[in-house]
Amino acid sequence: MVTSDGEVTLKVENLRACYTSKKGLVKAVNNVSFEVRKGETVGLFGESGAGKTSIALAILGMFDDLSRHHASTAASEENKRLWALKDEARKKGLTSEDLGEDLPGVEGHIWFKGKDLVTLEEKEYRKLRGDEITYVPQGTTKSLNPYSNIEEQTAEVLWAHDEDSELKEWQVMKRLLQTLDLVELGDVDIRKSMKPSQFSVGEDQRVLIAMALISHPALMIADEPTTAVDVGLQNRILDAIQIVRDELDLSMLLISNNQGTIAKTCDRVGVMTAGHIVEFGDTERVLNSPGHPFTRAFIMSNPSMELIRKIKEKGLRIRGIPGKPPDPTETLPGCPFSERCEYAQDICREKLPEYREIEEDYWILCHRYDELPEW
Ligand SMILES: Nc1ncnc2c1ncn2[C@@H]1O[C@H](COP(=O)(O)OP(=O)(O)O)[C@@H](O)[C@H]1O
Ligand code: SF4
Ligand SMILES: [Mg+2]
Repeated sequence: MVTSDGEVTLKVENLRACYTSKKGLVKAVNNVSFEVRKGETVGLFGESGAGKTSIALAILGMFDDLSRHHASTAASEENKRLWALKDEARKKGLTSEDLGEDLPGVEGHIWFKGKDLVTLEEKEYRKLRGDEITYVPQGTTKSLNPYSNIEEQTAEVLWAHDEDSELKEWQVMKRLLQTLDLVELGDVDIRKSMKPSQFSVGEDQRVLIAMALISHPALMIADEPTTAVDVGLQNRILDAIQIVRDELDLSMLLISNNQGTIAKTCDRVGVMTAGHIVEFGDTERVLNSPGHPFTRAFIMSNPSMELIRKIKEKGLRIRGIPGKPPDPTETLPGCPFSERCEYAQDICREKLPEYREIEEDYWILCHRYDELPEW
């Protein structure tokens, strides 16, 4: 685990998450561990399908339900059996390891405010979700209600968690205006009465960020917050996120496959492929002198201008990652990158490397880290 000097907001330990599917269990997240400190932004960076969104869904307590009720697979007898087995195991506090059979859903630990969220009941989760832990989902279009104005939708987040009816109308309005201002929506007095269709995609995205912020959460998870908008607007959204983070001393988990987004926003970053975090550390270090072959290959496949200069100086080649990620329904005995890694040896294909802390706060999942050429 990452050791921390500061206060820790979220600590994820040996997290596993499997979907049920027509092809069998999809191992989306494999033994992932990291933590997010107070006021810090941690990034999850990696290729599509690496398991980033699945981690977010696990933290939000939405993974199991989403997988269990997925329309295309819910009716299958085998999947019903697996979920019944999972329910039974959960009641008895047993895991896949205890049963010797891979179970669907989330396993491991997600520590937040002294509680392990993996063991939390849905009733308790509902109090946290949208209040203390909030989510800016991937892609805006489906997330906002087209029939309701921005004021109603954003204020509803506060009302929904006001179980004891303690909030006053003026308090909600004050917080609403502050929050819409914080994400720089502009003319908020007038624009709060408008519907999502009257905003640009970039503005809708900032409304979603406002909805995730209005409760002043301890943790905000933003999933690909800039993919739906054009490049010009991306920076404005990222600026808004940073201002808010500093203003509210918020901890954030930011998911992206864009190096620029991660570099601009994150203090530390975990690099993901095939459900594993393969490298974790200070963002500058990980992006500027990556130690893991996957990180190197992934950055090389879409290099920044600065990196292109460096690559040319060193006489290296710019190229994509060869081959495809492994099939997540199959269990590979070795390193998750072994089928595509130019440094792979027999041990890499036979044994999963240990997730090691190479230096303080710098973690690597690779057998051959010490032997790799410098970058
Ligand atoms: N509802 C689902 N049912 C089955 N498999 C899924 C489902 N959603 C995602 N997956 C699979 O889980 C893996 C991780 O996906 P995801 O967490 O969405 O990755 P990322 O966010 O990094 O792109 C991928 O192999 C993906 O195809
Ligand atoms: S363990 Fe082996 S295959 Fe995996 S990244 Fe390291 S060198 Fe490559
Ligand atoms: Mg995703």
